[in-house]
Amino acid sequence: MKRRDFLKRVSAILTMQGLLGSHVSLLGQVNSGLSSKKQKAARTGVILDQDWKEFRAGYKELKVNGKLPRELTGVLFRNGPGIKDFYGQVQGHLFDGHGVISAFYFNRGKIRHHARVTETERYLLELKAKQTVYPLFGTDVKVPKDIELSSSWPVNQANINAIVVDKKLWALNEASGFYQLDPKTLTVVRKGFTAEEFQDWPFPAHPRIDMKNKKIYATTYLIPQGGFIVYRLNFKGEVESYKVIKMPTAPMIHDSITTERYIICLVPPYSTELPLDVEDTIVSGFRFFKDQPTRIYVFEKENLENFKVFETKGQFAFHFDNAYERGNDEIVTHFPSYSDPYEVINKAFAKLDFANIVEESQHIPRYKKLVLNTKTRQVKEDNLTTGLAEFPRINTDYGEKHNRFTAFIGNSGDGGYFRELFYMNNDTGAVEKFLYPKEYHLEEHVVYPKKKKTSERSVWIMGVSHSPKKQHSVLNIFDGETPISSGPIANIELPYLLHYCFHGNYYDKSAI
Ligand SMILES: [Fe+2]
Repeated sequence: MKRRDFLKRVSAILTMQGLLGSHVSLLGQVNSGLSSKKQKAARTGVILDQDWKEFRAGYKELKVNGKLPRELTGVLFRNGPGIKDFYGQVQGHLFDGHGVISAFYFNRGKIRHHARVTETERYLLELKAKQTVYPLFGTDVKVPKDIELSSSWPVNQANINAIVVDKKLWALNEASGFYQLDPKTLTVVRKGFTAEEFQDWPFPAHPRIDMKNKKIYATTYLIPQGGFIVYRLNFKGEVESYKVIKMPTAPMIHDSITTERYIICLVPPYSTELPLDVEDTIVSGFRFFKDQPTRIYVFEKENLENFKVFETKGQFAFHFDNAYERGNDEIVTHFPSYSDPYEVINKAFAKLDFANIVEESQHIPRYKKLVLNTKTRQVKEDNLTTGLAEFPRINTDYGEKHNRFTAFIGNSGDGGYFRELFYMNNDTGAVEKFLYPKEYHLEEHVVYPKKKKTSERSVWIMGVSHSPKKQHSVLNIFDGETPISSGPIANIELPYLLHYCFHGNYYDKSAI
């Protein structure tokens, strides 16, 4: 079946009210008759390598180099596409692959690791079929002609982010539903929202948590309807309110950010015409209309019906670090800005061609400061870095407040893609950095507040580095109160190479 037919079929089925309404849940139906080693291993919760060749037992206590802070007693969850080669079908685009949750369990100076594939509807169906059955985000695959689709769940690999909401681990995709997992076993409990009315509605990879008012805000784009949706949830993960902005196109909105009063959404001219006119992958429908502006929607948290729209030059953002209000009229935020997302997402990420992005440095994301004036509607932009910057994280105690420090990963320009950890003072531009050994590439580094807080820098910074050459991965722990350039205070070498994870979070054991 051609991709166009597939999307048209989905388009005909989905409507905004009762979105993705009726479908038959296939969870639990595909296990019968399967006795392969892979199936057994997947069901019993051991981890698998990236080539699907063998499985390794998890949960073993790992050797710690240095001193692991004893106050860290909780779990670092990470999520990413863990199965890149599925029965001979290489899911080559960076964003494709069945989601695998990687979990590091901290316990008073000791640590164990475990990982498990998220048993999505798609994974279980394709496991039974022993092939990639449904189209992917960016990898061209031959799909069977007789596919019957009645929802977007079969295209969802739940492989981007992991957050805990009301003692459940949400494995997040984007522009599709999420899965609720038991955080202790990593097994699927249910899919989507608990309320039947919203169960199948699309959700983003980056919901934003308002700790003060105990709300969750989230924005995602709508394929195939066009436009985007903004949600307000309570801390039980229930939808309290939502607002749909209808558009003739679906602009890729991966993240949004909040201040005390507002939700800020960057709506880029990186969008797909609807109905989608694509032959194979979702991403091939996206074009970057660089001469058109990026629109910034600022919604009032209290009443999502009230919003203002700003304009700035065409650009794209995956992630924000934070946003805060300055005086009565200004909103400040920071984010890595892409001047041409098509070159990166459609082309470079399709080949995992990081080196080429760095060489063609005009396409790399640069960390930028944005100031919106809600009175004059002026938008002011300043570049904070000239080198590569991505995956910004902050001390979460400073969310929606004026944060000075942001941790991100990138590259100063001496080769490799993500090789350096940066810790930047956004006010002064001063930056500390730690360069990992050449054979390693990095994941996002998570920032978690210490129990004893003396400043914004009272944090632990933790992130995984991977060495395909050494066939292992390493979890690194930094102390935010010592210079980052002095390196990690502890690291944990895993005796295997993990899959690359995009996002995740650390939670104290009381949260799970
Ligand atoms: Fe992301």
